[in-house]
Amino acid sequence: MAKEGALDELLAEVVSRYDKSPNPRLREVTCAAIRHLHAFVREVNLTRDEWFEGIKFLTATGKMCDDVRQEFILLSDTLGVSTLVEMLAYDASAPHLTDNTVLGPFYVPNSPVRARGESMLVDPDDGDRVVVRGRITNAAGQPIAGAILDCWQNASNRFYAVQQPGVQSAENLRGIYTTDGDGTYEIRTIRPVPYPIPDNGPAGDLLKKNNRNWWRPGHLHVWVKAGGYKDLITHVFDVESDFLDSDAVFGVQRSLIREFKPDDQGELATTFDVVLDQV
Ligand code: BEZ
Ligand code: FE
Repeated sequence: MAKEGALDELLAEVVSRYDKSPNPRLREVTCAAIRHLHAFVREVNLTRDEWFEGIKFLTATGKMCDDVRQEFILLSDTLGVSTLVEMLAYDASAPHLTDNTVLGPFYVPNSPVRARGESMLVDPDDGDRVVVRGRITNAAGQPIAGAILDCWQNASNRFYAVQQPGVQSAENLRGIYTTDGDGTYEIRTIRPVPYPIPDNGPAGDLLKKNNRNWWRPGHLHVWVKAGGYKDLITHVFDVESDFLDSDAVFGVQRSLIREFKPDDQGELATTFDVVLDQV
């Protein structure tokens, strides 16, 4: 085993090569990554074979990426890094602000604009019909009229429309809703079901080799946008769903879990009020 001092010297030498970097932030991020990488290799006393396994794993991860599959993001998701970045980016610690969570890989821009209460369901689906209602306000409780809720979710066969071109209609279970003058909105859809994240690549292999779950609990994705307010990317989770305590990508926030119950009209309904942060 090499002497600690020699290992420290190597690290200092590598980091010093960035002294002349013209970009202070790039230098900060690069040098921090180098320091943590060296510390990791030293902590586990990485062998030559293990180092090469790691290189092969990252190479396979890169080869899995194309226009519709981003295996590095999936890896980041399953390591909790995407959630960590979201937690740092959006400070929901201020009282009453709605929590954010991960965007995920299945967002497709330009969803169809839907009327208040219209269903996002376009294709046949035997899922339970549900309605999600709520009000969007600022932290002072004032309603935000004209806010946009860009929504998407998977079908009862577990897949999002974007994963099944030619099987599902491209517009299935996607929709853009707008709040009324009093800040309220109404979305009709199906009860979201749990689904496995794409598990046929290196990120999935690593989960399985470590006996980890690769499923997500049932959720509706909502991206809320309103002039003068920070975008909020969030989910509505179903309290009755499996995997709430073992979400493969660590996206569950207790504050985002809702119960679907029959309303006055006998519809399975839940309320999801949203509080936005001013820019
Ligand atoms: C999703 O909820 O759509 C998702 C998020 C992260 C990884 C895979 C799927
Ligand atoms: Fe999702």
